[in-house]
Amino acid sequence: MYRCLKRVLFNRLCYIIYLTMITANIFAAENIPSDTTILKNSACIQCHEKQNSALIKSWKKSIHAKTSPVVNCVSCHGRLHKNMAAKARHDDTCIACHGGKEDPVVHSYSLSKHGILMQLEKDTYDWNKPNILANYRAPGCSYCHMHQGNHNVSKTVRKDIMSNTGVENVHYYTRSVCQDCHSPRYITRLMENGDSMLEIARKKVREANALIKQAEKTFSNKEMAPAEKQFKIMQQHLRNVDIGIGHQSPDYQWWYGQPALDGDLIRIKDSISELYRNKP
Ligand code: HEC
Ligand code: HEC
Ligand code: HEC
Ligand code: HEC
Ligand code: HEC
Repeated sequence: MYRCLKRVLFNRLCYIIYLTMITANIFAAENIPSDTTILKNSACIQCHEKQNSALIKSWKKSIHAKTSPVVNCVSCHGRLHKNMAAKARHDDTCIACHGGKEDPVVHSYSLSKHGILMQLEKDTYDWNKPNILANYRAPGCSYCHMHQGNHNVSKTVRKDIMSNTGVENVHYYTRSVCQDCHSPRYITRLMENGDSMLEIARKKVREANALIKQAEKTFSNKEMAPAEKQFKIMQQHLRNVDIGIGHQSPDYQWWYGQPALDGDLIRIKDSISELYRNKP
């Protein structure tokens, strides 16, 4: 009697396990879209929220989720569920939307050692590998800005070039990327140098700003226009120093950065002293 009961129970158990396996299989098959289904962005978010809600959250925190139009899943991954990660890792994904080769963001990187190595070697890389553990000899855009699949590209960028607010966090996160390939000591030195380089650039901007603010008390908007215009150009040159540091491009730190700022400051000084000279 007991034996018989045991056998029945066992058979039932097997049957239940078997059924569960079938249903799980059906769900799994439903869970991965086929290679040929054209997907909407809302579908990516809906399904991947269940797979990995942290990923969706990190994307939502990034500037990409806040610009208009939004840089969404399909902007980088495309609409077909095939080689999705490999496609997005490639520099071309980012460059096309970041202003092309001429844009300072892209140009500064192309002039760096990383950009040059990437240009030479990109066709030999296996883009299916994740952005970790020096899987690529040189880092591309996504290796630095989306390291370990982190979709918050803003983590590696300081919010305000004119101040050091939040810079420790940016340095902390960026450091973990660089140290896949470089020694901690080397990166510490680079970050310190970068910060002092940026501080030298900020001093020039502050000096120009103080001169303009002082002169504005005496002169009209129209008279101040040339100095104000030069000050706007100065902001672009300050940004060149910043991305020169971030992208390890000596050309952007020096050629397009510091000397350009010196030139701006001289022009602003000249323009304001002329106003004082001609004052009746
Ligand atoms: C119905 C659910 C579902 C939808 C819709 C969906 N995915 Fe997925 N996706 C999955 C599952 C499940 C995996 C994990 C597959 C695996 O591990 O092989 C996956 C894997 C991925 C991967 C990693 C692939 C790799 O090569 O490592 C990326 C990237 C991805 N999806 C992006 C997207 C994007 C972008 C969309 C919208 C265009 C999307 N998915 C729509 C379920 C979905
Ligand atoms: C469809 C367009 C588009 C694509 C594709 C795109 N971006 Fe962006 N990205 C933007 C816009 C718009 C901004 C916000 C304005 C700006 O900084 O230029 C931005 C900003 C950024 C920022 C600055 C973050 C901040 O907080 O200031 C980084 C870093 C970045 N993107 C990296 C990448 C990387 C890496 C890729 C490729 C994996 C990429 N982007 C792909 C449009 C795009
Ligand atoms: C070696 C790592 C690395 C690589 C490779 C890299 N970046 Fe950056 N990038 C940085 C760092 C670090 C900063 C932040 C500088 C700062 O704010 O101090 C930055 C800054 C930026 C910014 C913000 C600049 C601004 O003022 O708006 C954008 C956008 C950006 N990168 C996009 C890209 C794109 C696109 C590529 C590829 C063409 C790329 N990056 C390649 C590390 C990298
Ligand atoms: C700016 C471009 C960009 C956007 C926008 C973007 N991704 Fe990604 N995604 C990437 C890159 C690059 C990788 C590879 C990261 C790595 O190798 O560490 C990736 C990896 C992934 C993976 C694999 C993660 C893993 O750790 O294996 C999934 C899943 C994914 N993305 C889903 C999405 C979904 C869903 C959205 C929309 C909410 C989205 N992505 C938006 C560029 C992007
Ligand atoms: C995936 C590996 C990898 C990552 C990540 C990486 N680098 Fe590099 N880096 C290289 C390689 C390879 C070279 C070329 C070395 C050489 O000159 O032979 C290089 C060169 C450099 C150089 C130029 C050195 C010289 O002699 O001119 C600097 C500076 C640099 N990296 C800084 C950084 C910083 C800062 C980060 C993080 C934001 C970083 N790297 C992230 C691999 C990497």
